[in-house]
Amino acid sequence: MNIENVHIIYWSYSGTTEAFALQAAEDLKKRGMEPILYNMLKHAAPPAEFSQKDFVIALCPVFAGRLPAHAAESLKKWKGGRSLALAAVVYGNRDYDDALLELSDLLEAQDFCLAGAAALVAQHSIFPKTAQGRPDEGDKMKFSFFLLQILQKLSSCKTSADLSALSVPGNRPYKDVSGVRIPLKPQTSSKCNNCGLCSKLCPVQAIDPRNPRITNGEICISCTACIANCPTHARKFPAFKHWVGQKAFCKQNSLRKEPEFFL
Ligand SMILES: Cc1cc2nc3c(=O)[nH]c(=O)nc-3n(C[C@H](O)[C@H](O)[C@H](O)COP(=O)(O)O)c2cc1C
Ligand code: SF4
Ligand code: SF4
Repeated sequence: MNIENVHIIYWSYSGTTEAFALQAAEDLKKRGMEPILYNMLKHAAPPAEFSQKDFVIALCPVFAGRLPAHAAESLKKWKGGRSLALAAVVYGNRDYDDALLELSDLLEAQDFCLAGAAALVAQHSIFPKTAQGRPDEGDKMKFSFFLLQILQKLSSCKTSADLSALSVPGNRPYKDVSGVRIPLKPQTSSKCNNCGLCSKLCPVQAIDPRNPRITNGEICISCTACIANCPTHARKFPAFKHWVGQKAFCKQNSLRKEPEFFL
C-alpha cells in the first residue's frame, strides 16, 4: 500500500507513552519516512480528516483499565477516511483490561482500518517502583520488531480490504470506571515559582491558572502530568499516603508483564 504520511498521535502524562512515540518516529525515520508527532497533552492539533494515503499510530496510557476519558472524547472527533491505523496502549504492569479493545473499537468506529495493536509496558506513573525503569532495552527491541512487522504487512497489502480482522483482548461492555476515584491528589510545595505550566498541561483544568498552588481535587484525575512536568519539582502526592499505597501496589504487581502484539 502506498503510504504518503505517517502521523504519530499520543497522550502522555508522565512521559512513558511519549518514549514509545519517539521510538516509533526514530524507527520510521531510519526507513526513510518522515512521521509527524502530535503530543496531545501539549494541545497538538492532528488533521481533522485522514485519507487512504495516511498511516496513523495512536498511543495512549491505560487509566483504571480504560482509556483516559478526555482522550477517548478527543478520538471521537477524528475522521479516519479508511486510513491505516495502529493502536497502542501503555500500562504500568498491572493490567490493560479493556483499554486496547476500547482504542481499537474507537479507531474502527471513526473509519480507520486497524493494521495492528499493541499493549506495551512501562513504569507505573503513580507508583514508579512498579516496573521501574521500563521500557527497557528488551521492551524497545520488541516494539521495534513489531513496527517492522507492521510495515511488512502493509507493503504486502494492495488495499486496506486485504487486512485481516484483528482479535484484540478485552470485554464489551468495557469495565465500568464511573465509580473509580484514585485517592491521591498532588500538592504544591514552596518550590513553586508560579510559572503556570502545570495549569496549562492539566488535561481537566483542575489547577487554578491564577494560583497554581490550588488544585481542585474533585476534578483531578491523578494523571501525574503536573508532577512529571513541573520544572521545580514542586508537585508531589502526599508522601505518607503515597508510600503506603506504593508498598501495597508493588507487592500485588511485582510479576513482570511482557508487551503483547496483535497483527
Ligand atoms: C490515573 C491512572 C490510572 C492508571 N491505571 C492503570 C491500570 O489500570 N493498569 C496499569 O497497569 N497501569 C495503570 N496506570 C499506569 C499507567 O498506565 C502507566 O504508568 C503509563 O505508562 C503512563 O503513561 P504516561 O507515562 O505516558 O503518562 C495508571 C496511571 C494513572 C495515572
Ligand atoms: S509547574 Fe511547578 S513551578 Fe510551575 S506553577 Fe506549577 S507547581 Fe508551580
Ligand atoms: S492536577 Fe491532577 S489531573 Fe491535573 S495534571 Fe495534576 S494530576 Fe493531572
